[in-house]
Amino acid sequence: MTDPIAQAAALLRKAQRIAVLTGAGVSKESGVPTFRDALDGLWSRYDPEDLATRQAFQQNPRLVWDWYEYRRQMVRQAQPNPGHHALAQIQARFPDFTLITQNVDDLHERAGSHDVIHLHGNIAQSKCFDNCRGDPTLIDLATLDYDVDDGPPRCPHCGGWVRPDVVWFGEMLAQDLLMSAYEISEKAAVMLVVGTSGLVTPAATLPKMAHRAGAKLIEVNPDTTMLSSIAHVHLAGPSGEMLPRLMEALSDNA
Ligand code: OAD
Repeated sequence: MTDPIAQAAALLRKAQRIAVLTGAGVSKESGVPTFRDALDGLWSRYDPEDLATRQAFQQNPRLVWDWYEYRRQMVRQAQPNPGHHALAQIQARFPDFTLITQNVDDLHERAGSHDVIHLHGNIAQSKCFDNCRGDPTLIDLATLDYDVDDGPPRCPHCGGWVRPDVVWFGEMLAQDLLMSAYEISEKAAVMLVVGTSGLVTPAATLPKMAHRAGAKLIEVNPDTTMLSSIAHVHLAGPSGEMLPRLMEALSDNA
C-alpha cells in the first residue's frame, strides 16, 4: 500500500490545474475554533440561528455584534499555522492554483496565499446592513467615531446599522465568487479538500462538481466526512502536520 502522502504528491505533480477548498479545520491549529467540533466548536456554546442570521441581528444587534467582535479578536490574536504556510508554498510551485475558502479569517493571506476566494466573506470587513450604496457598501470602522463596547456603529451614509461582511445563514453568497468557484472546480485536475465537514452548501458541492468532472480529490482531515467517499486519497491527520509533509514530498521529487 503506497504511502498516501506519496500518492497525493504524485497526483499533484501530474496536475495542470489545482483547486483547494478549505474549511474551519485548517485554522483549528491556529487556535480558531471550528464550527462543529463536539467539544470546543463555536456552535457548541451558541445556537447559530441565534447569532448568524439577519433576523438574529435585527432582534439583538448588540449580541450578534459582540459575538463577531469576540471572533475578530480571536482571529487578530491567531497566527497562520504550518498548514496555511504549506498551502502558500504549494501555490508558489504551481502556476494554475486557486484557493477557495469557507473561512472568514485572513490566515491564508497572512501565510502568503494570494487571490483567495472567500465564499463566506471576511470577518475583518464591515458593511452597511442595508448596503445603501450598493452590495456591498463596505465601511471602514477606523473612520467611524464609536466605542466598540457600544454595540454596532451606524452607517455614515444612511444611519442604518453596520454589520460584519460575512454570509449569514439563509443569505445568498456573492454570485460572482460562486460562479468563479464553480468554474475552477469543474476545470481542476486535482482538488485538495482541507478541514471541512462538507455539510454546508453550496461550498460542499464544489468537490462533488470537481469529482464529477474527473478531478482527483485529496482530503486532508483527521476524520472521515461527507466527502470522504469521493476522495481518491485521504490524508488522515491534522492539516498543520499533513500539508507540510505533502509539501516536503513534492520537494523531494522536485
Ligand atoms: P466544520 O466545523 O463543519 O468542520 C470542520 C472540519 O475540520 C471537520 O471535518 C473536522 O474533522 C476538521 N478538522 C478539525 N481539526 C482539524 C485539523 N487540525 N486539520 C484539518 N481538519 C480538521 O467547519 P466547516 O466545514 O468549515 O458557514 O463549516 C462550513 C461552514 O459552516 C462555515 O463556513 C460556516 C458554518 O456555518 C458560514 O459561516 C456561512
